Amino acid sequence: MSGGSPAPERGRFITFEGIDGSGKSTQVQRLADALRARGSAVVQTREPGGAPGAEEIRRLVLTGDAGRWSPETEILLFTAARRDHLEKTIRPALDRGETVICDRFADSTRIYQGATRGDLRALVDRIHDAVIGREPDLTLILDMDPETALRRGLARGTDEARFESMGLDLQRTVRAGFLGLARDFPDRCRVVDAGRSAEEIARDVLAVVDDTAPR
Ligand code: ADP
Ligand code: TYD
Repeated sequence: MSGGSPAPERGRFITFEGIDGSGKSTQVQRLADALRARGSAVVQTREPGGAPGAEEIRRLVLTGDAGRWSPETEILLFTAARRDHLEKTIRPALDRGETVICDRFADSTRIYQGATRGDLRALVDRIHDAVIGREPDLTLILDMDPETALRRGLARGTDEARFESMGLDLQRTVRAGFLGLARDFPDRCRVVDAGRSAEEIARDVLAVVDDTAPR
């Protein structure tokens, strides 16, 4: 037996992805509540944002004209925010052995910046590999009809509608993109039908989280 101390216990990193208005933040909250009720320590967070510097970048990318930033600039801004989030919030929580539940992560950049305005996926992946290099342990992809989701999202009426203002075609492309990612990364991605009641979705999500838990 070696005399070194054991590696610190690592928490589980769970992300939610899906088109705008698909119910991600609702399900992040429900899953966090369910795990906390069992006594788990949970950090709930979101992208872009999740740390003070990253939240400042959030304001830059989510407000203003749809054409404010080129896709390449967006990749850099979202990835800069992600690096800050990873350093300040995600890694410290995982090192404490806590469960991190995050509303969007690198898969959103792969799809929104990598696949909606030309094919920039290779650039997204190169930058990700260089400065992020971490994938979630489990990604829940909330899949639903874009028209219903867009109506839900617009009904919120926030000032962060820069992407939603890009319209239904974008949401259709994004939906197809996420389903493609689920096929590309079958080990960590699970697709959940999000066109149902919040209760039904939450029940399925918890079942997936339990089924895929490390033993
Ligand atoms: P996202 O974070 O994916 O944009 P939200 O969780 O903010 O989605 O949900 C968008 C809107 O739809 C909110 O007003 C929310 O209350 C509502 N909503 C969430 N889940 C459902 C559901 N399963 N059925 C109907 N409305 C929902
Ligand atoms: P979010 O706050 O999750 O919006 P919503 O609740 O409407 O789903 O994300 C805001 C927008 O940012 C969303 O339209 C997707 C976009 N986005 C990217 O384009 N790239 C990224 O890397 C991330 C994290 C988000």
